[in-house]
Amino acid sequence: MEDLTVIAIDGPAGSGKSTIAKRVAAELDLEYLDTGAMYRAVTFAALAKGIEPDDGEAVTKLAAAVDIDLGADGTVTVEGIDATTQIRGPEVTRAVSAVAAHPGVRTELVSRQREWAHRRGGGVLEGRDIGSAVFPDALAKIYLTASPEVRAARRAGEVADLDYDTVAADIARRDALDSSRTADPLRRADGAVEIDTTHLTIDDVVALLVDRVRAARGA
Ligand code: DC
Repeated sequence: MEDLTVIAIDGPAGSGKSTIAKRVAAELDLEYLDTGAMYRAVTFAALAKGIEPDDGEAVTKLAAAVDIDLGADGTVTVEGIDATTQIRGPEVTRAVSAVAAHPGVRTELVSRQREWAHRRGGGVLEGRDIGSAVFPDALAKIYLTASPEVRAARRAGEVADLDYDTVAADIARRDALDSSRTADPLRRADGAVEIDTTHLTIDDVVALLVDRVRAARGA
């Protein structure tokens, strides 16, 4: 089997995944993939075309065909349109868990994620199911958590026009949907190391992960 250096980082919204995954990727000289942005991109395309997020057949068909480009600078282009800001907006955020729950959508995006890593010899992938479904044999599997209050405060700090209560309610709703869906629900993967980031600084978590990966690599 091909030797891939895959670092899988999973966890709920606001657990620190994106910030930490980007930093770990830079430290280890690997590329970074935000798989949540892919589910958001499909959701953006569905809303733009007037497709109902609950319509599994239509959304699955769309996921198989839609052109998504994730730039190294964080830019997300969907069918040639710069959707970087809109995929983080309230409409997409409200609908994304419904889109991500369709097994056909997951099959398509998981296959694109595997292809992305194979083309690069690995990478740091962050999401909800990387260690459990996309790369169960990843070199390092990390499950990040934090208290619901800290996660909501972090997300509220990132999104300019949303208050804490709105963000807290949205996170609680998405946690429930993402953890209870049948297809690859959010959970700590077998063999994943769980790190509670509530009281840790980003530097602490990054140092911990980089050490783990280096140890796993035998460097
Ligand atoms: O990480 P995020 O908040 O941008 O993710 C958006 C949604 O996409 C999230 O509510 C669940 C879904 N998702 C998923 O089901 N599987 C992934 N690997 C990544 C995200």
